[in-house]
Amino acid sequence: MQIFELINVINEISPLSDAFSDDKVGLLIGKPESEVNNLIFAHDIDRKILKICNEKNINTVITYHPAVFNNFSDLNYNNSYSLPLEFLKHDINVISVHTALDVCIGGNSDELAKLFKLQNIKTFGNSNENNSVGRYGEIDLISKEDFIKMIERNLNTSVIRYNKYFSEIEKIRTVAVVPGSGTQFLSEVPKNIDVFLTGDISHHHFLYADYKNFGIVQVNHISTEIPGIKKFIETLSSKLEIKIEYFYESYYG
Ligand SMILES: [Fe+2]
Repeated sequence: MQIFELINVINEISPLSDAFSDDKVGLLIGKPESEVNNLIFAHDIDRKILKICNEKNINTVITYHPAVFNNFSDLNYNNSYSLPLEFLKHDINVISVHTALDVCIGGNSDELAKLFKLQNIKTFGNSNENNSVGRYGEIDLISKEDFIKMIERNLNTSVIRYNKYFSEIEKIRTVAVVPGSGTQFLSEVPKNIDVFLTGDISHHHFLYADYKNFGIVQVNHISTEIPGIKKFIETLSSKLEIKIEYFYESYYG
């Protein structure tokens, strides 16, 4: 199978054209006509992944986060973002799925909604006319303490922190979720939700949520992405009839 054929299969599960227009998805490093000799999935590229590829003669990596995210002003190995050059030098193809996987049917956002058993699910944060990254809906009425336990159990992670409004909530009914860094959609979080759950929250986001009267809870960034990615790998493995290993840095989970 050649890289472009693998991309066709990925598109059947998670159409890359549905990603946010400012995102980087698809074949970011490598050649479309390259023959796939072996395939792994990595949450991010790093030196460990490069080593695994070289040791196991793996020439194709599908990553969740974009393998190339900056615009190069030079292609100098002294550049602090030179890791993609190492993959290119070793003829390793890297395909990234990122927000295409978030927004697709059964993708990261749907998987979060399913994990929290959201009812009457609605969406926000559109990538295009038909796709969006945010999900919100109702859960069975639950105390703040039990909701925290539910988050930690569902996502196999720890709640990092939450805003003052959340600390004063007694019961929770309506929950909004965005996988990864969801704060760019903060102004689109619907009114009257009790809690918004995502990763990467800054102080001013907490203050904004206090001002808007909703709770906001921060968890480890990749813990919100791992469940949907596992499902994607399962589907892709079954379509390709191969076993695909998934590597992520558990320190950040
Ligand atoms: Fe992310």
